[in-house]
This record gives sequence, structure tokens and C-alpha cells, in this order.
Amino acid sequence: MLTTGPRGTKDILPDTIGQWLYVEKTVRDICDLYGYKEIRTPIFEHTELFLRGIGETTDVVEKEMYTFIDRGKRSLTLRPENTAATVRAYLEHKLYADIAVNKLFYIGSMFRYDRPQAGRYREFHQFGVEALGTLNPAIDAEIIMLAVQFLKTLGLNDLKLALNSVGCPNCRPVYRERLQEFFRDKLEELCSDCRSRYDRNPMRILDCKNEHCKELSMGAPNITDCLCDECTDHFEQVKSLLTEAGIEFELDPRLVRGLDYYTKTAFEIQYAPLGAQSAVAGGGRYDGLIEECGGSPTPAIGFAVGLERVLLALEKQALLPEVSQAMDVFVVALGATAQKPAFKLLCDLRAKSIKASMDFAGRSLKAQMKQANKAMARYVVMLGENEVNDSCVILKDMITSDQEKIAIKEVVNKLYAEVKD
Ligand code: HAM
Repeated sequence: MLTTGPRGTKDILPDTIGQWLYVEKTVRDICDLYGYKEIRTPIFEHTELFLRGIGETTDVVEKEMYTFIDRGKRSLTLRPENTAATVRAYLEHKLYADIAVNKLFYIGSMFRYDRPQAGRYREFHQFGVEALGTLNPAIDAEIIMLAVQFLKTLGLNDLKLALNSVGCPNCRPVYRERLQEFFRDKLEELCSDCRSRYDRNPMRILDCKNEHCKELSMGAPNITDCLCDECTDHFEQVKSLLTEAGIEFELDPRLVRGLDYYTKTAFEIQYAPLGAQSAVAGGGRYDGLIEECGGSPTPAIGFAVGLERVLLALEKQALLPEVSQAMDVFVVALGATAQKPAFKLLCDLRAKSIKASMDFAGRSLKAQMKQANKAMARYVVMLGENEVNDSCVILKDMITSDQEKIAIKEVVNKLYAEVKD
């Protein structure tokens, strides 16, 4: 146990961190392009925020939250998602006071107690975007375009954008009734989760993963047939803006999403080669959430991308770039007398912004050269007792294998000229 991480978690080791930094840089570049500013909120929040925000009848709240009581007897929860927390921060810091539409993004760990499998973890990372303060359908289109452009910039092309409108508190009760009517005589056959969803939140039946429930819900009424005029008009405008922008989408009237705060636009981006966990991104409008959290009625929309899934997809398509972590110089010191001058040389190299490292374990020449190779060092500087006595070093070019003896006081300038050229 002491040498194994908790189930569903993953260490990101030095040899893969470059891939994460590459994806995160793409996130930052695209958010910069679209004018979204980064926000960082705590990893845990008051449990109540998620109960109210996400909805008590969702799987996330019912089965997946990491909730604990702290020493002050408060109930806290590791964030299972970051929309509710962003709304909390938006209200706490009155971000609405200065800016009419706040455009925010985040990158960070989320926590859900789910059955781990490829692409599904208990700690995972999301990049998310939230635009708070406008009902303009153009922001729906912008948010969706940002998600698509992010994935395409990384090279993922065979994406399916599924789009739906899940209505609003005006039209949803009508749909709810029609759904209940549809499932009434199938109730006995539904799984126990769906039987309890029937009264509390029948739309969730459409999202059940149970094969028999899926079959039973074939032919269920579509929400888009029950939308009120306002929702219909909004949806039409979003579709037309996306079409004009050349963003392909597929209408999916059964797309209900797993969190309760959604209103109007809902979407998911799927990448089929990922198999069972093919949803790489999901989001939508949540026009009632800010009010639910104690603010004045404020429309908002956002999405989140699962970064592990994106990395899996990039790996599958061999789209991950080789990220070089090569050193410019590796200093090899042999024997006790060489240690101090070698360390001084290391400091002088770094003072000139030359990437340099050395062996601190006092190992053999062979072992140190091996380490230099592993560090992909472009040059090696060697010094032992003789070199120290002669105030010189041996400089080896690791590509040509040429080596020369030069004065120690000249080596930094020479390497600077080579490396920074
Ligand atoms: P979500 O659909 O629950 O939405 O999660 C978004 C994405 O996070 C999923 O499409 C998936 O890629 C990834 N994801 C979810 N659970 C896991 C897991 N256990 N392991 C690995 N990846 C996972 C939200 O979280 C909303 N907050 C999105 C949003 C933002 N809606 C409006 N604003």
C-alpha cells in the first residue's frame, strides 16, 4: 500500500510531463486567442455547493463524491467538477461588478468515485471554460467553437459534436410529464436506479448505461418537440451560427448530460476511437445555477474537456510531439579535487542560461557518461585531478565525438557561443 497510489489515480512521471505541458500550452494559447482569463479555485468546497449546484439526483452527487468532515466538523467535498466552484468564486468576489460578461478558464484535478477503467479515473484533470453573464446565442457558438478548435489544433479531427437543447424550467415540466407517461407501463422493467429516477428526474433515464433501459427508452419523446418559443428560438440561432462558422454538428435529442444544472444548449464532443469513454468534452448552458447559488439570475454557459482522454486520443493517433528535455551541457567530475571546480563551472554555465547538470553521486567515468547520454547532453565537460592542476577541461561534442582540451576560463564563453548560436 505504501508503494502503490490509490486506485483510480495516476502519477505523471518526468518522461510524460512534457506531453501535459504541451496540451496545457495549447489550452492557454487558445484561451488567450478567445479572451478567456484563468481562474484557480480550491480543490475542495463546502459539500452543500455541489448538492445544490450539481443536483441531488445525479450520479455524481449520489454515488461519486469524495466527502469528508474536517476537524472543525464541516462537511467538505473534493471537487467533482469545477462549474459550481467557478460560480461560487464569481459570486464571492463579485466578478460581475466590473465586467458584464466574465470569460474564465481553468485547468485542474477533479475527483469522482467511479469504477476506474481506461479513460475513467478517480482523480482526473479537466480544462474548462465558463462564460458568465449573457444569454446571447453567439456565446454558445463561441464556446463550442473554442472546444472544437482546441481539439483540432492538437490534431484530433474525427470528432463528433452532438448537440441538443434541454429546455428551461418553463418547458421542461411538459417534457417531464410526457416522459413519465412514456415510461409508465415500462416502470417494472427499468433498473432500480431508473425506477427512482422516474419520479425524481425522469430525464436521467435517457442517460442510463443499462442496456435494457436503453432499449426501453427507444421511441421516447424528444425534448426538442416540447421546447418553449424562447428555447426554440435560442436553439435555432445557435445552430445557424455554428453552420455559418462551418462547425459540423449532429443533433442528438437524447443528449441529457449527467449534471442537473443544464438549460437550453447542451453538447458533447465524442472521439470514437476511445471506445467506451469516448466523450472528450461536454458542456452547455446553466442559466439557473448562479441564482441557485445565491446570486441574481444570470445566464451562463461552459464546457470541460477531460485531459487524460485527450492525451489517450493523441497517443492512439501518434500525435504526441517529442518534447525535448535535453541538457546543453553535462559536467563530469572525476575524483575529489575536481568536485569544487566542477560545481563552480556548473554555476557559471547556468549564470549564462546554459542548461547544465552534473552527477552528484561520485560515480565512475563510464557511469557519468551514461548519465550524460540519458540527459541528452549536447556537450560534456570533463575534469579530473590532472585537468584541475592544468586549469583546463576536456570538452566533448556528443554528436561528433570530437574532444579537445581547453582552458577552464574559456569554456563558458566557448559553450555560450556554441549553444546560444
Ligand atoms: P462532465 O461531462 O461531467 O462535465 O465532464 C467533462 C469531461 O470530463 C468529460 O467529457 C470527460 O472527458 C471528463 N471526465 C469526466 N469524468 C471523468 C473521469 N472519471 N475520468 C476521466 N475523465 C473524466 C462537467 O464536468 C461540467 N462541469 C462541464 C461544464 C462546464 N458544463 C458547463 N461548464
